[in-house]
Amino acid sequence: MTQKNNLPCYLLLLLLLWLAACSVQAQENDVPPAYQGMTPPTSDFLTDPANIAGGQKLYRQHCAACHGETGHGDGPAGQVLALKPSDLTDPNGIAAKSPDYWFWRVSEGGTAEPFHSQGSIMPAWKYHLSEQERWQVISYARTL
Ligand code: HEC
Repeated sequence: MTQKNNLPCYLLLLLLLWLAACSVQAQENDVPPAYQGMTPPTSDFLTDPANIAGGQKLYRQHCAACHGETGHGDGPAGQVLALKPSDLTDPNGIAAKSPDYWFWRVSEGGTAEPFHSQGSIMPAWKYHLSEQERWQVISYARTL
């Protein structure tokens, strides 16, 4: 068999890999309808120093144990987890995501798919923090 005869197979393989990658991407980026387009209480909420300061307190209290003081996913409690806490500063990950994505993930935590099936123990903060507090902690986390 010549190199040329194998070409269609390679192309097919590439196409399949591309499709697989797309479906994984779509799953992880899809903000569920209930959270799609959600915005903070005011347009300058996320950049308001008072909210960032309040968010810092909440972050140290509720998030740092897993995500680390500086947000790199290296908190002491996080180290023992099979599925490691996300690096909240990752410019190719959560740091690049929209406010509604953040709000969804912080609110629903590891109860959302595909994270639940992956064994995530990220808490669903909607049961512990008010909407205002969740937006505040997000405002701080986005400065990390
Ligand atoms: C018990 C450990 C733990 C605590 C406490 C915790 N997290 Fe997480 N978090 C995780 C784990 C593990 C993941 C990765 C799995 C996942 O995405 O569900 C994660 C994922 C996330 C994500 C999603 C990242 C992405 O790329 O989708 C965000 C945002 C987040 N955490 C924010 C927070 C905030 C804000 C707090 C505090 C209010 C917090 N976490 C507290 C363990 C924790």
